[in-house]
Amino acid sequence: MLTRLQSLFNPLRIKIPFLLDVVIVSDPDQIKQIEASGCVERLHAYDSRSLPWWVRLYFRATKFYDDSRELWFLPFESASDPSYPPRRSYLEKRVATGYTEEDVKSIADLLRSDASDQALAHEMVQVVNRRFFVQDIPLHITKAAKGTLQSVREAVFPWKYVRARACIRQVMDYCEQTLPQGVHLLDSGHNIGEVVQATAKGLRSLKDNLQDPVEEVFTAHPPTPQSTRIVTKPTRFDGLLLLPTSVGQTVVLYNIGKAATKTHDLHFTFGAGGPERLCVFKDFFLAFTHDLQRELSETKPGAPDLAS
Ligand code: HEM
Repeated sequence: MLTRLQSLFNPLRIKIPFLLDVVIVSDPDQIKQIEASGCVERLHAYDSRSLPWWVRLYFRATKFYDDSRELWFLPFESASDPSYPPRRSYLEKRVATGYTEEDVKSIADLLRSDASDQALAHEMVQVVNRRFFVQDIPLHITKAAKGTLQSVREAVFPWKYVRARACIRQVMDYCEQTLPQGVHLLDSGHNIGEVVQATAKGLRSLKDNLQDPVEEVFTAHPPTPQSTRIVTKPTRFDGLLLLPTSVGQTVVLYNIGKAATKTHDLHFTFGAGGPERLCVFKDFFLAFTHDLQRELSETKPGAPDLAS
């Protein structure tokens, strides 16, 4: 009886007719099963205007969607979209230009001196984004990038929502004025916010767990908590749901962060549990944090703090 009751909430379906239909999945095997089912797709597989109202409302205040230019960040595009391969390949090439020993040292210095979150994020933004913008990102833009929404819960506070909309506009206008012609504005613009909101936090987790391998640190403290899909076929996902999904309306929310913590599998830190479409930044991030860990570990206890 208890097992049957638990299975009713696992995955959890929240369905309010004509308003909302969401399936929240935290179990790692269920995430993999749904991802492999052939019944879900990336949100922008559908035209933005036909997506559920709350999806448009929420995402237009995040770093993932610019509704005025009608641009979505790459993970939201179907792999069958003709723009997908060249966009992925452009990002891969830019990320492959790597980082320098100086980059590692400057972040290590900030961590050692317990610099503010803002100073740390701003410096890391330069390390990641110089390759896209060919110039340093100004402080007011990294500050703005922090203000976009990071969870649906935040969207219910009108002042946060209005501020988030202003922030995404500010970041995207900067991208338009600064990026070289032909570069996808949101694929690059997103990366400022991603570093400010997720990567910088990850660096602190690393410092607090210097003795653990980076793979362990970033599965125990995954920077990305969730990813979303939209349903493309009516299905009960082989009995996981009581009622079938609605095409183009049911949204699946994978709790990949929880799955990473449970499985210690980096495929959940940087993807949806499998090797397909993993984060373009994964290898850079792991190599960088590995070097950073070495640099931080080499600091002799009691050595003078040069950064302060
Ligand atoms: C530590 C920080 C980061 C984490 C934990 C992270 C995590 C993720 C995750 C979980 C996905 C899969 C999303 C999904 O399946 O819906 C993803 C996709 C992606 N990420 Fe990251 N990300 C990080 C930083 C970045 C940065 C800085 C960049 C750009 C330089 C980036 C570029 C991408 C791209 C382009 C994809 C889409 C890959 C594809 O669909 O082919 N990520 N990331």
